[in-house]
Amino acid sequence: MATIIDGNATAATIREELKKEVAELKERTGKVPGLGVVLVGARKDSETYVRMKGKAAEEVGINFILKKFPAEITQEELIKEVRALNDDESVHGLIVQLPLPSHINEKAVLEQVGLAKDADGFDPLNIGMLAMKGHTPLSVPCTPRACMELLARYNIDIDGKRAVVLGRSNIVGTPVALMLLHKNATVTICHSRTKDPAAICREADIIVAAIGQPEYVKGDWVKPGAAVIDVGINSVPDASRKAGYRLVGDVAFNEAKEVAGAITPVPGGVGPMTVCMLLKQTLESAKRVYSAAQ
Ligand code: GUN
Repeated sequence: MATIIDGNATAATIREELKKEVAELKERTGKVPGLGVVLVGARKDSETYVRMKGKAAEEVGINFILKKFPAEITQEELIKEVRALNDDESVHGLIVQLPLPSHINEKAVLEQVGLAKDADGFDPLNIGMLAMKGHTPLSVPCTPRACMELLARYNIDIDGKRAVVLGRSNIVGTPVALMLLHKNATVTICHSRTKDPAAICREADIIVAAIGQPEYVKGDWVKPGAAVIDVGINSVPDASRKAGYRLVGDVAFNEAKEVAGAITPVPGGVGPMTVCMLLKQTLESAKRVYSAAQ
């Protein structure tokens, strides 16, 4: 049976590390990192993610500045609010929780977050620097960084291995493929037009599943001993649960864990690590400001 990659335990370890670093920064500069979060509307999932970010920030000593707006806010007004946070010197990392209501152009709003404060790593310049050899982005998307951190902390070899990424989103699939490539994996990206993804997955030493389809990757898609990183968070109806649903990943966990060498569960795998990477990048932004000032 596979090693279960424990995202909760690893995230707790990283929060301890971050807490020490935040305290050191405060000791040295008198400053505390600040994370600004913009939340528009009342989507339950977004509210849950933002609550988790706030709780984790507080735990490590990062100042959490939450600005909530009604779903009816105009694009113009929202842009003004994001700009104001971007101009605030106590805010070192600034994110806009996605998705935004459909009357708002996400790109126009995200453009107001300056490169230096882009803790989500969504800025096209950061993505461009991630893509190009010889460049180092200031921040990278948090979920891909979380996947890479789990592989590193569980000593999973990437160099020379075959990696298959399922999904090609800007936030996960494409950046995680680039990160695996930089670590010398031979990378294949599967997407909605890919023929026979099962056969491609069977060749993989590392599978990263990020397609948002419940239990899409079956146990017999996994090569014996492969590492499986499941980014999916899908709710499926379950009458046996009080909530009436349960969360499952993009991988059929119970089947895959019998074959894989290591696998992340859902929940408790990549999710808690993603929040840690956001905090880490906020701290890194603050450190850049104060080391440049000294
Ligand atoms: N919505 C879903 N994932 C994310 C994320 O990583 N960052 C933000 N800002 N919104 C999201």
